[in-house]
Amino acid sequence: MKAIVCEQYGPPDGLQFKEVATPAPVDDEVLIKICAASVNPLDSYSMRGPLFFLPIIGRRLKPEHQVIGCDIAGRVEAVGKDVKRLQEGDEVFGGKSWGGFAEYACVSEDKLAIKPANVSFEDAAAVTVAAITALQALRDKGSIQSGHKVLIEGASGGVGTFAIQIAKSFGADVTAVCSTRNVDTARSLGADRVIDYTREDFTQSGQRYDLILGANIHRSVFVYRRALNRDGIFVVVGGGLARLLQVMLLARLLSGIGSKKVCFFIANINAKDLTLLANLLEARKIVPVIDRRYRLSDAAEALRYREEGHAQGKVILTVEQ
Ligand SMILES: NC(=O)c1ccc[n+]([C@@H]2O[C@H](COP(=O)([O-])OP(=O)(O)OC[C@H]3O[C@@H](n4cnc5c(N)ncnc54)[C@H](OP(=O)(O)O)[C@@H]3O)[C@@H](O)[C@H]2O)c1
Repeated sequence: MKAIVCEQYGPPDGLQFKEVATPAPVDDEVLIKICAASVNPLDSYSMRGPLFFLPIIGRRLKPEHQVIGCDIAGRVEAVGKDVKRLQEGDEVFGGKSWGGFAEYACVSEDKLAIKPANVSFEDAAAVTVAAITALQALRDKGSIQSGHKVLIEGASGGVGTFAIQIAKSFGADVTAVCSTRNVDTARSLGADRVIDYTREDFTQSGQRYDLILGANIHRSVFVYRRALNRDGIFVVVGGGLARLLQVMLLARLLSGIGSKKVCFFIANINAKDLTLLANLLEARKIVPVIDRRYRLSDAAEALRYREEGHAQGKVILTVEQ
């Protein structure tokens, strides 16, 4: 099969589109013929390596998994002997941390759900990491409730565009923070208020929130904490490295002072949440925002574009059938 291969950590120029062995499913896995995949910041970490911030040393490490790519959607071609829920021919979406930018991938059935018939492979491929992160951040870490005042920073990216829609499906009052060109999109996704961060600083308005989802944080944790209501929660999933480190170091300490909470978390891909998202997709309660589409062979270009940091929603890779 053809796949996007990363033999050495580094920038997208080092990726190769080449022939590799088609993987074979182990007992709990299914083999999927991939129709579409989507690009996540996670793929940049897989490509640049764990020491991406020290490239001279980092590039000497060897990638453990050479085929990168997480989110996929496609058809089941073969199943391992312990697979119970899925069978040959099923249309599925999901993914694991690697192996997705290819014509075929093997994924455990625990990390897959059935794709609804009225949802395209491209839309389904857009969902996994970004939407699961948004869902788990709002529901599990943020304890979102109907009527909560929720602010989403980084509202126009992969995580943020799903977060607006998922927060609205919980009945929250949503404020989205994004740049000028994304204001209309955020509004069309259901945001009750949109703050253009190039014109207004939400932390200066005096408004307080029950839940702030930091999909892309670029300020000190103390600033976000001040914008919370008494029992408010600040859930961080991504942003600038220095800001994330500050949150990781101080979250526990700050959560022990007063009634406000701060937390960082890593999403967990699982079939139960994917199935919940499939139901929301089928009912059109969430609709993926797709910025650009590239062919699988042009994955390096797609990664380069996403790394510029201003993609609106998701970047998709299509696999010729
Ligand atoms: N913890 C986890 O499990 C987990 C899972 C998934 C992702 N993440 C992390 O979450 C972050 C977001 O992921 P993603 O997939 O949404 O990334 P993404 O799609 O690449 O995010 C791009 C978006 O970020 C927005 N943005 C850039 N600078 C901003 C700023 N200063 N203020 C507000 N928005 C800004 C851009 O909007 P404008 O063009 O309008 O600026 C753009 O729409 C990444 O850091 C990723 O690593 C973490």
